Amino acid sequence: MSFHPLLLFVHVAGVVIWVGGMFFAYVCLRPEAASQLEPPPRLRLWRGVLARFFTWVWVAVAAVLASGLALILRVGFAAAPLYQHIMFLMGLVMIAIYVFVYFVPYAGLNKAVAAEDWKAGGAALGRIRQLVGTNLTLGFLTIAMGTLGRWLG
Ligand code: HEM
Repeated sequence: MSFHPLLLFVHVAGVVIWVGGMFFAYVCLRPEAASQLEPPPRLRLWRGVLARFFTWVWVAVAAVLASGLALILRVGFAAAPLYQHIMFLMGLVMIAIYVFVYFVPYAGLNKAVAAEDWKAGGAALGRIRQLVGTNLTLGFLTIAMGTLGRWLG
């Protein structure tokens, strides 16, 4: 029995949770939270939402990376087509951005909310928004690479 379909399932499920979650947060929740809530409840809301989401992102990142590597290693890096190498590279950039967001501006948001420092909290949230916007764009491009990349050969 080939494990290829199972690895693809784990890979795509991880991508759906990670990129889909960023899409919902950035495109749907962000504009409503910004227009309807004052800084204190808005920043508290984001701290709670991101705490829940980021727990799942760690699981998704581990799943995407482990399954992606397992898929590539079935044929070996040398034999893997170009689009898979590019996907690997883009995936690593996305993971690096996520790890930075988690340990720098998200940690700053937590600290600012605990101290009720709404100015610092707003700055940290702005940084998270920028970087999540970047990762969402990269996420779509990586999905394109994982699917349409076959056209590159
Ligand atoms: C982190 C390192 C990653 C590695 C090593 C990797 C590797 C792979 C490999 C080997 C495949 C199988 C291609 C095939 O069977 O033809 C694949 C499929 C795919 N990957 Fe990745 N990938 C990574 C990250 C990502 C990320 C971050 C995304 C999206 C945000 C992504 C999206 C996809 C998609 C949409 C497919 C197509 C699944 C299908 O054929 O049904 N990958 N990946």
